[in-house]
Amino acid sequence: MPVDYADREKSYELYRNGKREGTWDPDDYDLTQDREDWSQFSTAEQHRFLATCAGFYDGEEDVTRTLAPYMMALDALPNDEMPFDTVQEEMYLAQQVYEEAKHTDFFSRYFAEVFGTQDTAQYREDGYQEQGYSTEDLYDTADELLAAVNSGDRTELVYALGEAYLNYMGIVEAQLARAGYLSFDQMIELKADEMGREVVLESFQTAVGHIRQDETRHIENGRWVMRKLADAEPDIVQDVYEPRIEEYVENRLLAETDYEQPFDGYDQQRIAEQLTKYLQDTIDYIGADRFERYADVSSALEERAAAD
Ligand SMILES: [Fe+2]
Ligand SMILES: [Fe+2]
Repeated sequence: MPVDYADREKSYELYRNGKREGTWDPDDYDLTQDREDWSQFSTAEQHRFLATCAGFYDGEEDVTRTLAPYMMALDALPNDEMPFDTVQEEMYLAQQVYEEAKHTDFFSRYFAEVFGTQDTAQYREDGYQEQGYSTEDLYDTADELLAAVNSGDRTELVYALGEAYLNYMGIVEAQLARAGYLSFDQMIELKADEMGREVVLESFQTAVGHIRQDETRHIENGRWVMRKLADAEPDIVQDVYEPRIEEYVENRLLAETDYEQPFDGYDQQRIAEQLTKYLQDTIDYIGADRFERYADVSSALEERAAAD
C-alpha cells in the first residue's frame, strides 16, 4: 500500500486539502474589465506592476520545470529509515507540480490577453528580481538533486533535499512570492483609491488569491519536510539551512531596493517587516533552538545592519 491510512502524515492531509481547494481554472476568468482597468495605469505604473508580474511568470515556469527531481530524490531514500513517509510526500509533490503548471498557465494567459505581450525580459532589466536570489537558481538545485540520486548516498540525498526545499519552499515560495503578493496588494489598493474604485484588476486579484491559497499549502508542506530532514540529519541546520538563510538575508533583506516607485503611498518598509516575520515563522517551525545565528531574526538583522 502506498499510504498507511491509519497514519496519514501532514503531506497527505495537505494533498487532501489540495484536492478540494485546488480546483480553480485559469480559463474561468473574464478579463474584459481588467483590460479596461489596465489602460488606466500610467506608463510608470505599468512598468512597476509588470516587473513584479514578470518575476512571477518566469518564477512559476521555473518552479514547474524544476520540481520533478525532488520526487526522484525522495524515491531514492530508504523509506523505512526516514522519520517521514517519502511516498506520501511524493504524492503531495505530484499535486504541487500540477498546481505550479496552472499558475504558469494563468500568468501566460494574463500576459497575452491583458498586457499584450509574452516578453518578460524587458521588464526585468532593472535588476529588482535578480537581486542576489533568483528562481533561475532552481535549475542548479535540480541538477544537484539528480547528482545525489546518482550517488545513492543517504546523507547526500538528505542534504541535497534540505537545500532544495529551503531554496524552493523556504525562500522562493515563503519569502519572494509572498513579497510579490504584498506588493500586488499595495499597488492595486493604491490604484483603486486613486480611481475612486472599490477594486481594480478584479479577475487578477481573484485568481492570484487562488494561487496564494495553493502556495500556502506548498509552504506548509515544505517547512514540514525541512523539519523532518533536520530530524534525520540534525547537522543539516548548521551545514545547510543557516548558511542559505544568511545568504538570503544579505542579498535580499539587507539589500537596498532603490527602484522607482510610481504608486503614491507605497510602503516598502511594511513589506520588509512582514518578510522578517515570515522568516521567523519558518525558523520557529523547523525549531529555533537548532539555529545559532538566526534563532531570533530581528536581532540577527540588527546585528548585521550595525556591522555594515
Ligand atoms: Fe506557484
Ligand atoms: Fe508553489
